Amino acid sequence: MDDGALTSDDLKTDRTSETGKTGANTRKVFVKTYGCQMNVYDSQRMGDALGRDGYEPTQSIEDADLVLLNTCHIREKAAEKIYSELGRIRDLKAERAARGLETRVAVAGCVAQAEGREIISRAPVVDLVIGPQTYHRLPDALARVARGEKVVETEYAVEDKFEELPKSERRQIIGRGVTAFLTVQEGCDKFCTFCVVPYTRGAEVSRPFAQVIEEARALADAGVREITLLGQNVNAWAGEDETGRAIGLGGLIHKLAVIPGLARLRYTTSHPRDMDEELVAAHRDLPSLMPYLHLPVQSGSDRILKAMNRRHTADDYLRLLDTIREARPDIALSGDFITGFPGETDEDFEATMRLVREVRYASAFTFKYSPRPGTPGAGMDGHVEESVKDARLQELNALLRRHQSEFAESLVGKRLSVLVEKPGRHPGQIAGRSPYLQPVVLPEAIGEIGDIVDVTITSTGPNSLLAEGMTKPDPASSRKDEAPTMRSVA
Ligand code: SAH
Ligand code: SF4
Ligand code: F3S
Repeated sequence: MDDGALTSDDLKTDRTSETGKTGANTRKVFVKTYGCQMNVYDSQRMGDALGRDGYEPTQSIEDADLVLLNTCHIREKAAEKIYSELGRIRDLKAERAARGLETRVAVAGCVAQAEGREIISRAPVVDLVIGPQTYHRLPDALARVARGEKVVETEYAVEDKFEELPKSERRQIIGRGVTAFLTVQEGCDKFCTFCVVPYTRGAEVSRPFAQVIEEARALADAGVREITLLGQNVNAWAGEDETGRAIGLGGLIHKLAVIPGLARLRYTTSHPRDMDEELVAAHRDLPSLMPYLHLPVQSGSDRILKAMNRRHTADDYLRLLDTIREARPDIALSGDFITGFPGETDEDFEATMRLVREVRYASAFTFKYSPRPGTPGAGMDGHVEESVKDARLQELNALLRRHQSEFAESLVGKRLSVLVEKPGRHPGQIAGRSPYLQPVVLPEAIGEIGDIVDVTITSTGPNSLLAEGMTKPDPASSRKDEAPTMRSVA
């Protein structure tokens, strides 16, 4: 919930994929991912593609023949982090060169798209800058780098990158565990006045229905139990089902819900304007659609919402939540908030606090407004002092934190289904997630990775729930024979 922390801790870790065979000629790639889940997904796909190209992943940057940074441009801090990392990589490259080793450096992601060649001017250590729409050209771009070129690939490709990127292999999927991301939509047409995403990721595009279903089946076949559908504006997904009928995200989720082995579905991130009836109905009708919804509102003040070009009022948002809660009464909500958008007064901020008190979020992400080059917000009057942004952020965080722990406390004594995901931190423990995405610590004897177990919550930890419970997994989760080598997501 800190400023600058868009993602949970595990999204900040290196997500190099499990690929490649060891051998004398194997080159090693170190991938570091910043920003949102869509970057995590892209890094996996790039890692998989590089695996075909003879690269083996490494967790140690010192050993890497290729360092790939998948970057985020959302706030100034996020973008600046890349340059300090590139400074360290420059030193590393010099040390490796002294040992006769070559190191190539590639910058992908939203900073690559936003800054292009400028990155090489500022950090000459960089050999390749590649934007999110051209990842399928990565092997070709690296071949050009090998010939001594500095390469910048930031044109929007006419071809479909997902069609062109090699499909992940079964062993690659298995290596990543029982939960998976699946990008179904990219780009954004909303143009909120604070946000760079429409510029870095381009216009809204939906991946075709058949492509999504095929990928989801491959994930399920490799033992994945939970899929999170991703998109910058995921609920704007639109397509045609196998009969040619036009469907939205709700329709797509209906089709995914019947894939054998898939026990849980989630989606993120949604815009309130695109929560249509079909999607709300999916929350009512599909038990596998988890009762947790990340629905950012940014502010509770209509004046600020208008200046942000969110195109809804606070009341529209609250009425929408009424409809969603009617469909799925136990739904837990999560949101994003910005403090100190230009022109935000104490009263505007108070309206945000009021909205938060009314909604009672189960979790939230909060950010101080960061003016981004090229966005309308940056040129607006009434920029708010850093200290005021900060004070508001602290006040908002305190309230959200209180609600979050009250929500967790309210689950003590209740029975919840938990997807077991990985070994716990301590011997004798395993770790999973509640339907509401909370980490749950369980006794090891209760089940195996990939099982969905019913447990009673006995207490709450600082960021998790502790459970005691029955050992019998649900019948649908007995898939151990089909995925014998499943490992945890580290
Ligand atoms: N597509 C998603 C979120 C994209 S960015 C959506 O519309 O909700 C994730 C979050 O970062 C946003 O919800 C917003 O809260 C925050 N954010 C985006 N631009 C920002 C900026 N310039 N300063 C501070 N926070 C920002
Ligand atoms: Fe950015 Fe707004 Fe699009 Fe979300 S909906 S990605 S905040 S422009
Ligand atoms: Fe960051 Fe780009 Fe995601 S700016 S939040 S990595 S879409």
